[in-house]
Amino acid sequence: MSDGPVLRMESVRKTFGDSVVLRDVDLEVAPHTVTALIGASGSGKSTLLRCANLLEEIDDGAIWLDGEEITDPRADHDAVRRRIGVVFQAYNLFPHMTVLDNITLAPRRVHGVSRAEAEERARELLERLGLGGKAGAYPDRLSGGQQQRVAIVRALAVRPRLLLLDEITAALDPELVGEVLTVVRDLKEDEGMTMVLATHEMGFARDVADQVCFLDGGVVLERGTADQVFGDPQQERTRRFLRRIVEAGRL
Ligand SMILES: Nc1ncnc2c1ncn2[C@@H]1O[C@H](COP(=O)(O)OP(=O)(O)O)[C@@H](O)[C@H]1O
Ligand SMILES: [Mg+2]
Repeated sequence: MSDGPVLRMESVRKTFGDSVVLRDVDLEVAPHTVTALIGASGSGKSTLLRCANLLEEIDDGAIWLDGEEITDPRADHDAVRRRIGVVFQAYNLFPHMTVLDNITLAPRRVHGVSRAEAEERARELLERLGLGGKAGAYPDRLSGGQQQRVAIVRALAVRPRLLLLDEITAALDPELVGEVLTVVRDLKEDEGMTMVLATHEMGFARDVADQVCFLDGGVVLERGTADQVFGDPQQERTRRFLRRIVEAGRL
C-alpha cells in the first residue's frame, strides 16, 4: 500500500436539488491518522462521509482511496465499499441474529471468508473491545454502548483500510459515551487505524484527532491540528461555534 493519503477529496461538490450541501471540499487523510469533522447540525458532515463511501454520488470533483480514483465511473463501487468500514449513529444490528452472526455476515457473504475464519476474527475483536462474553447474545440484551461496540467490531471484521464514524455516540446515554470513545482511541493507538469521524464530542476530538475540519454550510471553513482549531481558531464562525459549545459545557 502506498504512503500517500488513504483518502483524498478534491473540489467535491454535492447538491440535493437546489441546495448545495458540499462546496469545493478538499480533504486529505494520511495513513494512521484521525480526522475529526466538526460543525453545526446540517453543515454537511454526514454527507461528506457518505460521499467518501460512495453512498452519495458527487456532482463535481473527485475522490481517491489509496490513490485510486473511486469517483471514476469505471470504478468498482462494491470493491471500494469493501475497503471502507462505516459506523453510524444508529447501530443497525440485525435483531434476529446473535452478535457473532451480525459480525460474521459480511466477511462470509461479501468477502468469501470461511465461517471458521470469520468467527475466529470476530471473537478476537470482541475480546479486544471488551465484549468477550457476548458472542452468543442477541442485540436487545446489550446496552446501547455495547451495541455500538458490536457495530464497530462488525465494521472492523472485514479489515477495512479506512473507518468512517458518523456521530457514533450521539444516541447513547451520557454514561455510555466513554466506553465507545475509548474503543476509538484504542483503535488509533493500538492498530493505527485510519479514521474520519463526525462528532459533537469536542473534548474527544481535541484529544484524539490529528486533523480537525470545521464545516460551515458545506464548506471546510477552517482546518488544522486540534490545537490550532480549538486553541487558536482563525475564523470568526469557528470561534462562534466553539463558544457555543463551551457555553453548553461540551468542551
Ligand atoms: N438525502 C437528502 N436530501 C436532501 N437534503 C439532504 C439529504 N441529506 C442531507 N441533506 C441536507 O444536506 C445538509 C447537510 O446535511 P448533513 O450532511 O446531514 O449535515 P450534518 O451531518 O453536518 O448534520 C442539510 O441541509 C440536510 O438537510
Ligand atoms: Mg450528521
